[in-house]
Amino acid sequence: IGMCLCAHPINAQSVIPVPLKMEQGTGSFLLSEKTKLYTNLQGEEAILLGDYLKTALPVQFKEGKKKDKQNVLSLLITEKKPQLVSPESYILSVTPEHILIQASSGAGLFYGIQTLLQLSQPSDTGYSIASVEVQDTPRFAYRGMMLDVPRHFFSKEFVKKQIDALAFYKLNRLHLHLTDAAGWRLEIKKYPLLTEFAAWRTDANWKKWWNGGRKYLRFDEPGASGGYYTQDDMKEIIAYAQQHYITIIPEIEMPAHSEEVLAAYPQLSCSGEPYKNADFCVGNEETFTFLENVLTEVMELFPSEYIHVGGDEAGKAAWKTCPKCQARIKALGIKGDKKHSAEAYLQSFIITHAEKFLNGKGRQIIGWDEILEGGLAPNSTVMSWRGESGGIEAAKQHHDVIMSPNTYLYFDYYQSKDVEQEPEAIGGYLPLERVYSYEPMPASLTPEEQKYIKGVQANLWTEYIPTFSQVEYMELPRMAALADIQWTNPEHKDYQDFLQRLVRMVKIYDVYQYNYAKHVFDVTARFEPNAETGTVDVTLSTVDNCPVYYTLDGTDPTTASQLYTEPVKINT
Ligand code: ACM
Repeated sequence: IGMCLCAHPINAQSVIPVPLKMEQGTGSFLLSEKTKLYTNLQGEEAILLGDYLKTALPVQFKEGKKKDKQNVLSLLITEKKPQLVSPESYILSVTPEHILIQASSGAGLFYGIQTLLQLSQPSDTGYSIASVEVQDTPRFAYRGMMLDVPRHFFSKEFVKKQIDALAFYKLNRLHLHLTDAAGWRLEIKKYPLLTEFAAWRTDANWKKWWNGGRKYLRFDEPGASGGYYTQDDMKEIIAYAQQHYITIIPEIEMPAHSEEVLAAYPQLSCSGEPYKNADFCVGNEETFTFLENVLTEVMELFPSEYIHVGGDEAGKAAWKTCPKCQARIKALGIKGDKKHSAEAYLQSFIITHAEKFLNGKGRQIIGWDEILEGGLAPNSTVMSWRGESGGIEAAKQHHDVIMSPNTYLYFDYYQSKDVEQEPEAIGGYLPLERVYSYEPMPASLTPEEQKYIKGVQANLWTEYIPTFSQVEYMELPRMAALADIQWTNPEHKDYQDFLQRLVRMVKIYDVYQYNYAKHVFDVTARFEPNAETGTVDVTLSTVDNCPVYYTLDGTDPTTASQLYTEPVKINT
């Protein structure tokens, strides 16, 4: 029994994420070389948005005017519509005469364009779009995806392709985990060894490197494997993201996951030696100078209000015996208590220090939920990854929260139980249906506390993901489920309906050459013992009701094999 993806008509309901309101009309708009394009958007943004549209729907638009009523695609900034509740809201009207997208900002127009793209069907003269009226607005303001680039480095070009995928699903944050033991990935002019040394290791494959000594090499030594983004590369990525209304959130890890820094600059570790520690020495003033200098260059580069400072999985063991760290604890008057060790309070101290520094420059911090331990820095946003409890606790403390629980949204986990057939993954099991079922608003919070849940993010850690195509395989189609979680009103979420929309979506993956997992298109078999006939009755189905062919002699079926029409009765 084979996997099946058969030809499917496009219908106007096939939008992911599901819009707030969508009504089909009659007839279609035919987009062609004769179609005029008009916008009242001004300046650079108008040019970029027009260019984006012309690339996405490659027809030679004619220049339109405000008074054009026939065969025109209009992108209109309007302030007065009550339906446009956020800058990201839009109204899309398609009639046989016109396509009209209205929004109060370029972002809203951009999301209207995304919906339009999903509804566009190639035709002889260009594209055909069925008449429809869409009124749409996102549920969450923060809609993120994280990519881990230290464990395996991914090129600037691939990051741009990732941005395309995020934009398609109306995500608006790409969190780049830029630094970790496996490699520092961002040029910092003040600390050249970060990219001449800490960005290069003895093995291209993370697992081999991790199990084989975890050593770094200078970039010009034989066998050095790795890479990094120059500041110019990163400017290019940021600009590309901005054109897609996506903010890049940089993550600079502290105080842990910092073996690579401490190999390059061992004076920042408790032991003073490379390859001994994972955590920065918090007793050493130079650690703070280093972090401030790095964050200064990061802020010059990234316009994001939020800078992610990591904070996860600090062992803190070396701090217990480090004279400098212990002197710091004493000087600060820190005492361990029933809730937290003195070292946990020291972790809070370094995160709070980074926060003060960043707040002083008008920026805010996000940290993994361990930043709760030892007390949250006053203005910090918590990214809840160890399930939802950290997020719930932070919301109760009136801190903003991004939900990215590993129990639903770690896309490095297996998506099938048949792991023999899967590329090796880190473990876990998060099939599409489980991801789709995630409801980010904890019922245990009061309505007042729920307001602190600002958004949702999925994370892709890449220890076991060395290639672009495997990144896409782990993300797609789970990212489509993520989009419905982030954007769509929960009343409009329906897994069976989602699967139907997905059938259409994979055709678009093929067009844009995205790799994706196909488990949901497998033939599902149900086996039922039938007491009356003494048989086992086998029912076969697919999400898209494709014809199924089968054999009973163990050979691979072809389209010449038996066509499935009714339950197969097995009597031997
Ligand atoms: C994490 O997965 N360590 C945030």
